[in-house]
Amino acid sequence: MHIPVLKKEVIQYLDPKPNENFIDATIGNGGHSLAILEKTAPKGKVLGIDWSQEMIDSVNKNPNLIPVCANFADLSEIVRKNRISNIRGILFDLGMSSWHLASSGRGFSLQKKEPLDMRYSLANQLTAEKIVNYFSKFEIEKILREYGEEEFSKEIAEKIVEKRKSKPIENTLQLVEAVKEAVPRAYLRRRIHPATRTFQALRIAVNGELDNIEKVLPQALSLLETGGRLVVISFHSLEDRIVKNFFKNRASEGSEGLKILTKKPIIPTNQEIKINPKSRSAKLRVAVKI
Ligand SMILES: C[S@@+](CC[C@H](N)C(=O)[O-])C[C@H]1O[C@@H](n2cnc3c(N)ncnc32)[C@H](O)[C@@H]1O
Repeated sequence: MHIPVLKKEVIQYLDPKPNENFIDATIGNGGHSLAILEKTAPKGKVLGIDWSQEMIDSVNKNPNLIPVCANFADLSEIVRKNRISNIRGILFDLGMSSWHLASSGRGFSLQKKEPLDMRYSLANQLTAEKIVNYFSKFEIEKILREYGEEEFSKEIAEKIVEKRKSKPIENTLQLVEAVKEAVPRAYLRRRIHPATRTFQALRIAVNGELDNIEKVLPQALSLLETGGRLVVISFHSLEDRIVKNFFKNRASEGSEGLKILTKKPIIPTNQEIKINPKSRSAKLRVAVKI
């Protein structure tokens, strides 16, 4: 089960009250949503979105929860179709859930032998296997550089293309092996696994993660009531930069603007990181619509 990250802080900033409506754009196992619903009873609704059907199926039934399997990049349309209004807050807890890593069997983890898939939604046509075996060397290098900030993107892309000539790269361990062969020896002794950035980059590319965030933030702001809160938890600098810049730009504009409530991002306490090490890279930013 996924442990919700920064739950106390999310609730403190969303500040849900009886009968208010909220959107949880990344419901996962529903940890944050259930905490919101406890405060918005008896009549407040939560529209809970996830791109993985398995996550939607995992969430406990609650008469005030509207579960929807969709890409949050289409937020305005999802909201229109589900006829929810007077939205007091929208939460994004970005990335993948523990289920994706541990149980999906879709190659999100570099520690287990699984097919190279990495899709949140099985309706998505693109997989990591397609990128690795069919994209050009230059396209792969660009993905690793831009989405993984990988220092050895060129070397890794070259190794992938060399290896796939004799045999397709179909599983996670084959990819890990290619990365290990491509990078200098010193890289293998570092604290983070040498393939971590490659896996992050492929996951972002498969799911269009940065595009999704770019697309949804303006929609989220315009869907909120005045005084409503936009709460975003990100897990790496590329996501965080998009959120930070969006907040900054809209804070300086007049129309449909916002006020930033977190000058510096909120990060988990040492105690939270001890209980849930996966929370260690989380950054929470909050803005209020004005
Ligand atoms: C970190 S988990 C959320 C965990 C959740 N807050 C909880 O407490 O259980 C992120 C979730 O966002 C979903 N997700 C990622 N990108 C998405 C997108 N573009 N649209 C909808 N859901 C998305 C993933 O499938 C994953 O379940």
